[in-house]
Amino acid sequence: MAEKEQAIEKLEQIKSTALAALVEVSREEDLEAWRVAHLGRSSAVMGVFSSMGKMDKDLRPLMGKAANEVRQALESALEEKQGVLAEQALKKALATEQLDVTLPGRPVTRGRLHPLTQVLGRITRIFGDMGFQVYRSPEVETDDYNFTYLNMPPYHPARDMWDTFYTKTDGVLLRTHTSPGQIHVMREHAPEPIRAILPGATMRYEQLSARSEIEFAQVEVLVVGEKVTFAEMKGTLEDFAKRLFGEDARLRLRASHFPFTEPSAEMDVGCFVCGGTGCPVCKETGWLEILGCGMVHPVVLEYGGYDPEVYSGFAAGMGIDRSTLMRYRIDDIRHFRNNDIRFLKQF
Ligand code: PHE
Repeated sequence: MAEKEQAIEKLEQIKSTALAALVEVSREEDLEAWRVAHLGRSSAVMGVFSSMGKMDKDLRPLMGKAANEVRQALESALEEKQGVLAEQALKKALATEQLDVTLPGRPVTRGRLHPLTQVLGRITRIFGDMGFQVYRSPEVETDDYNFTYLNMPPYHPARDMWDTFYTKTDGVLLRTHTSPGQIHVMREHAPEPIRAILPGATMRYEQLSARSEIEFAQVEVLVVGEKVTFAEMKGTLEDFAKRLFGEDARLRLRASHFPFTEPSAEMDVGCFVCGGTGCPVCKETGWLEILGCGMVHPVVLEYGGYDPEVYSGFAAGMGIDRSTLMRYRIDDIRHFRNNDIRFLKQF
């Protein structure tokens, strides 16, 4: 019976070797190699089956049963290990790949145009409808363009109407209004008729308040031709203002003075911020000046290259900032350049 015991012991050893090897397997993809080694054709258990022919006849059924039990034990151990490893892999994947495709997406925050840009766009479209062309002219100007060619020679007291930023270069300054653009356009086009607007930044050395800023935007309007009249100016500007502020906007044209226009006027709109009862934006008057205007002065026409005996024209300069205050009922001009996102988001 020594043969039998020996054979049984050998089987036990095969089993424990295989099981010990299985404990070492830690990855699902390594299980197949283990199966081939311990349950495959040339594995030790299978060797026991094929060597049975040489065994004692009485021993065969016993050994066959024992070898089968070992094989089954190994098979179920494999199955169990497979389950354990699969579960571990899933847990790991869930922990590391936390992607829930059913979650709603994060909203994309959309930018928008600054309110000044929006109003400038509307102004440009209104004048565009009327056949005006858009020009740009320099923000840094010479003293001549900003003053002299606009009928304000050096030392003329009218220059005091504009508090100016001078540069270190003699005769070069930051333009205090878009009016120097009138000269640029005229010199480029004389003696052709002109219907142009010139938008852009302007700078004045001023005390900040609810109604004034150091930098602000203007749009210059210029019409030059034969027989251009004050009535055309009034009609054009009133039509423009009603289109920008609405049909029910209250408007008034007031006599005024500018060195580069004669006669000159200013247009006011009834204050939308307070409805006309008076507030800091309208200086408690109920009205806000939005533009200066007038018939282009003969001296200016001449500087531009037009014969004032033949040609006439009108010009206007409007503040975009104040117009925007009115359109959106904003109570302080300083909001525009503060870059406060809470303010900007509202438009
Ligand atoms: N340039 C003037 C200003 O800024 C406005 C203006 C423009 C007046 C054109 C008359 C004609 O105050």
